[in-house]
Amino acid sequence: ALKENTVIVVLGASGDLAKKKTYPALFGLYSMGFLPKDIKIVGYARTKMDDAEYHKRITSYIKTNDDPQTQAKLEEFKALATYVSGGYEDSPSFENLNKNLETIEQGHQTPECNRMFYLALPPTVFIPVAKHLKEQCYSRHGINRIIIEKPFGKDLDSARELLNSVKQYWKEDETFRIDHYLGKEMVKNLLVLRFANVALNAGWDKNSISNVQITFKEPFGTEGRGGYFDEFGIVRDILQNHLMQVLSILTMERPVSFEAEDIRDEKVKVLRAIPPVERSDTLLGQYVAANGKPGYLDDSTVPPNSNCPTYAATTLWINNPRWEGVPFILKAGKALNEAKVEIRIQFKDVTQGIFKDISRNELVMRIQPSEAVYLKLNTKTPGLYTRAIPTEMDLTYKRRFADAKIPEAYESLILDALKGDHSNFVRDDELDVAWKIFTPILHWIDGKSGPGPKPVPYPYGSRGPKELDAFITKYGYKRSQVGYSWPITSVS
Ligand code: BG6
Repeated sequence: ALKENTVIVVLGASGDLAKKKTYPALFGLYSMGFLPKDIKIVGYARTKMDDAEYHKRITSYIKTNDDPQTQAKLEEFKALATYVSGGYEDSPSFENLNKNLETIEQGHQTPECNRMFYLALPPTVFIPVAKHLKEQCYSRHGINRIIIEKPFGKDLDSARELLNSVKQYWKEDETFRIDHYLGKEMVKNLLVLRFANVALNAGWDKNSISNVQITFKEPFGTEGRGGYFDEFGIVRDILQNHLMQVLSILTMERPVSFEAEDIRDEKVKVLRAIPPVERSDTLLGQYVAANGKPGYLDDSTVPPNSNCPTYAATTLWINNPRWEGVPFILKAGKALNEAKVEIRIQFKDVTQGIFKDISRNELVMRIQPSEAVYLKLNTKTPGLYTRAIPTEMDLTYKRRFADAKIPEAYESLILDALKGDHSNFVRDDELDVAWKIFTPILHWIDGKSGPGPKPVPYPYGSRGPKELDAFITKYGYKRSQVGYSWPITSVS
C-alpha cells in the first residue's frame, strides 16, 4: 500500500531525465490521484535557481492542453515541489538537504517519515550520492527507498563494482533499479498473454516456433546525445537491458506466483541458460548521412572515426528443453525508417503435402506505438475459390479499449516503487547474468580483445544495414507469401 508521510527527492532535478520523464510522471500520478495525499517533492541539483525557475524547468514537458482542470492541478503540483541546490560529493550539502527534508516533515501528523530518493543522475556520481544519502539523509523513522537507472556499468566487472558499492549503503530491498521497458503496458501484458491463455501457451516452444525477433526501431539519430552514446553504443543502450528484459519475460517458465521474487527467479533462470553472444551471430551497423540528415560521425559530440555501432542485430540461444535450437534475434537501431518496438514470433511451416507455399503463422506483439497483438493466420478466400490468404486476428488497443488511458512507463514504475513492489525492477543477479551474455562481444566491439569490428554503413532513414535480410533468413525467418494456392487435387 502507499505510505503517507512520504517525501520524494529527485536528485539531478535540473537534468534531462528529470525534466522529460520523472517530473511529468510524478505530475501524471498526482493528477490521477495516485500519490499519497500529503506527498511532497524536493528537487536537488547543483544549479542555483529559485523556485520559479525550478518550476518552469520541471513543467516544461508537461502538457495541460489548455484544460482548466489540468492547469489547476499543475498549480497544486508546483506548490508541493520545492528545490534545494548542492553538490553530489560533499557531506555539508547533504546535511543541508536533510535539514530541508526535516523542515518539510514537521508538518506530519505522526513521527513517521518515509523518503524515496530518485537518482536522475549520471553514473559517475551514483556511488557518492548513494553514500551521502545513506549517511546524511536516511530517515530513522520510516521507509527509505532509492531508485537508480542505467547505465549500470559498462561490462560485467564494472557493473559488479557499481552494484557492490551501492550495496554497501543500500539493501537490495530498498533499491529499485529501473529499466523503463518493464513499465510499458505491453511488456506487463506478456505475463497475462502467456499464462492466462491455454491457447497461446500450448504452442510456446521449440516444437511450434521457428524463430523470434524482438525489434527496436527509432527514426532519429543521436543528435546532441553523441557524447553519452559513443561511450556506450546500441548494445548497452538497448539490447543488454530493454530487449533482454522483454526476452526473459517472453521465455521464462511460469512463476509460482506474481510475487516479485517468484517472477525474478524465473527470469534469472532462463537468462542463465543463454550462452554469451557469438561474434558470428552479430551484425553491427552505423548510420551515414542521407536525405539531408547527418551521419553519426557528423555529430560534433562524436569522436572522429568512431566505430561505435548505432545498429545491432544479435542472435541468442536458450539451452533448455523448451527453447533449444530456437533463434532469438534481438535487433535495435537508431536513425531508421520508423518508430517501432515489437516482438514477432514466427511459427514453423505446416506439415507439407496438402498446401503449397502457405504462409507461416506469426504472433506479433507491438509494444509501441499503438499497442497491439495480432496473429497472422491463413484463411480460405471467401467465395468460390480454392485459395488461401494470410489474414489477421487483430487486437489493436485503440479500437478494442478505445477509452483506456495507457499509463506512461515511468508513471507505472514510480507507483510500484512507492508501493514497494519490486516485480518490475531489475534484481542484482538479473543484471549480472545479462552482462555475462553481452560482455564478450562488447569487449570485441570496444577493441579490447584485438582489432574491433567495423560496423557496416546504412543510410539515415533506411530499414537498417542491407545485410539484415540475409542475416534473419540465415536463422530461418521466412517472409510471408502474398497469395497462394491450395491444390485440392493433390490431396489423396
Ligand atoms: C533509453 C535509451 O533507455 O531508451 C535511449 O537510452 C532510447 O537511447 C530510449 O531512445 C527509448 O525509450 P522509449 O521509451 O522511447 O522507447
